[in-house]
Amino acid sequence: MRVFVPPIKSQGIKTKLVEWISSNVEDIQFERWVEPFMGTGVVAFNIRPKKALLCDSNPHLITFYKALQSKEITSGLVKKYLTEEGEKLLKSDGQYYYEVRKRFNSDGHPLDFLFLSRSCFNGMMRFNGKGGFNVPFCKKPNRFAQSLITKITNQVENISQIIDFGDYEFKNQDFKETLKEIRFNDLVYSDPPYIGRHVDYFDSWSEEEEITLNQGLNNSNARFILSTWLSNKYRTNDYVFSIWKDCSISTKEHFYHVGGKETNRNAVYEALLSNVKFENSISNPDMKSRIILNESQLTPNGKEYKIPTQLTLAMEEEQKQLSTIL
Ligand SMILES: C[S@@+](CC[C@H](N)C(=O)[O-])C[C@H]1O[C@@H](n2cnc3c(N)ncnc32)[C@H](O)[C@@H]1O
Repeated sequence: MRVFVPPIKSQGIKTKLVEWISSNVEDIQFERWVEPFMGTGVVAFNIRPKKALLCDSNPHLITFYKALQSKEITSGLVKKYLTEEGEKLLKSDGQYYYEVRKRFNSDGHPLDFLFLSRSCFNGMMRFNGKGGFNVPFCKKPNRFAQSLITKITNQVENISQIIDFGDYEFKNQDFKETLKEIRFNDLVYSDPPYIGRHVDYFDSWSEEEEITLNQGLNNSNARFILSTWLSNKYRTNDYVFSIWKDCSISTKEHFYHVGGKETNRNAVYEALLSNVKFENSISNPDMKSRIILNESQLTPNGKEYKIPTQLTLAMEEEQKQLSTIL
């Protein structure tokens, strides 16, 4: 499976898990794909449903994708913008980053959001108590070299095409609003901030919210899948066995890189919880006893997930045309 990477970066991005998630939902029939926590959108953009409702409480993500949808932002515009702004960044020896950050925090322009996402420290997305983007510069004044501009431009083009092919609605709203809109024949993919992990202005998450999400999903009568963490070297996520005790579980070992160093790899078992029984999932009590008995956990490899042929061909054709234009 070729994974399409979105142009926006964030610490919770599921790029490395997309294939595994896709392989689990492959055989499920649904009318509409719903994400109450779309983040960068990498999961939806690779599942590529015909119809989707994609929501997030972070207004900048939604503004960005709406701008791609309305063609306010195109790959051509991104190329021009990053070339010009990248030159200013280089000339100022990196100081220009802070001018763009200030401008973004007063105007919230989606192109500036892209600039910051791709030139901030470690591609992080963090906001202060007033909702201002507060990540420092990556300290590479030549960040927007030609090769990176081409890469980002291609990412914008690919995601724009995926959005064009689908019937997608983007909404800036709290997950409680999205829960109200779920229909029984939707498939809901929930990827909330991981409980017990980091917190910031658009990304705080409490036990109460985890319970509200669980109740809302159960009451909707729709099929749902939830991403969460199961365990790491030190701890187990006990909520999996309390709040989500009725779900079946599929797991995958995943490594997070801390500070970009190969030596600082933290292994985490990712879990997909669902009210649908996947081919490789096991019941919640089974998983609990495996953990208690310290048995090796279930780590199925994702099946090969095929993306719709029609779409692939169209995209590759467009890609060829694009590379001759650029
Ligand atoms: C783990 S990230 C989702 C990552 C996404 N699946 C991806 O691969 O990029 C969680 C997202 O939930 C959003 N979020 C946090 N609290 C929320 C809330 N109360 N309602 C809706 N979205 C929320 C955050 O802005 C963030 O984008």
